[in-house]
Amino acid sequence: MKQSRELLVAVAAAKEAGKAIMRYYGDSCKIRMKSERQGIVTEADIAAEQKIKGSILNAFPNAAILSEEDEQQPAGRDFLWIVDPLDGTLNFSRRIKSFTVSIALWKQGRVVLGVVLNPATKDLFCAEIEKGAFLNGKRIKVSSVPSLGESIIDIGLPDREDARKRDYEMLQKVFPYLNSFRALGSAALQLSLVAAGSLDAFLEVDLHPWDVAAGVLLIEEAGGIVTNEKGERFDIFRDAVLVASNRAIHDTLIRRLNTP
Ligand code: IPD
Ligand code: CA
Ligand code: CA
Repeated sequence: MKQSRELLVAVAAAKEAGKAIMRYYGDSCKIRMKSERQGIVTEADIAAEQKIKGSILNAFPNAAILSEEDEQQPAGRDFLWIVDPLDGTLNFSRRIKSFTVSIALWKQGRVVLGVVLNPATKDLFCAEIEKGAFLNGKRIKVSSVPSLGESIIDIGLPDREDARKRDYEMLQKVFPYLNSFRALGSAALQLSLVAAGSLDAFLEVDLHPWDVAAGVLLIEEAGGIVTNEKGERFDIFRDAVLVASNRAIHDTLIRRLNTP
């Protein structure tokens, strides 16, 4: 695949951030509660964010960047880098190797590139619009699992109590019909694993654009589908409920979720 300059910059930025994160891994780095509704942030989150912003601004000095830990969020949305410098901070803080760096580029109403790196395993997922999705340079496709009964579904654990209750209700509606479920704790990784066919679906409530922007494109480019609970195409800035799957089990999932 011929990669755009933007993708090369995003990959380099993710790798720099990954190195910065791993310098803190296993150490007692400073952890701070952002608020009860927002969970924790560590020195590694901040260091990674600085690396990513530095790399993007070095290549594109006028870039607008929406990044989770940045207090100054850009106003416009026409050409926007969307960054989660460390997704799965809780896993990182407990030395569970399920955390990622997520970088996406939003251009005129759609995500055009997405990069997700797991710094601990070095797995690198990337996609550009209409060019496919890749894991460590090899093309990936969503699974071909045809039924809920054979599927492994991943479920999110959002920070806010009301979102958690909604998440739990969703899990209860599908739980009896699954093969198995996981809760891996990094939305960007969970979406990437649906794209790679390791998981068949992922459900979560109350995610932010930086959690999902890259992962949504990865799934779409790998042949999957991401919608809200009504089955409408997922809007990363608007929708609360995210239902991502391999496409084959999507209608059944949406039907189950809407069954009282
Ligand atoms: C969190 C993770 C987690 C999800 C939370 C997110 P963070 O992001 O993606 O899996 O359940 O809703 O906030 O805070 O680790 O970047
Ligand atoms: Ca996140
Ligand atoms: Ca984060």
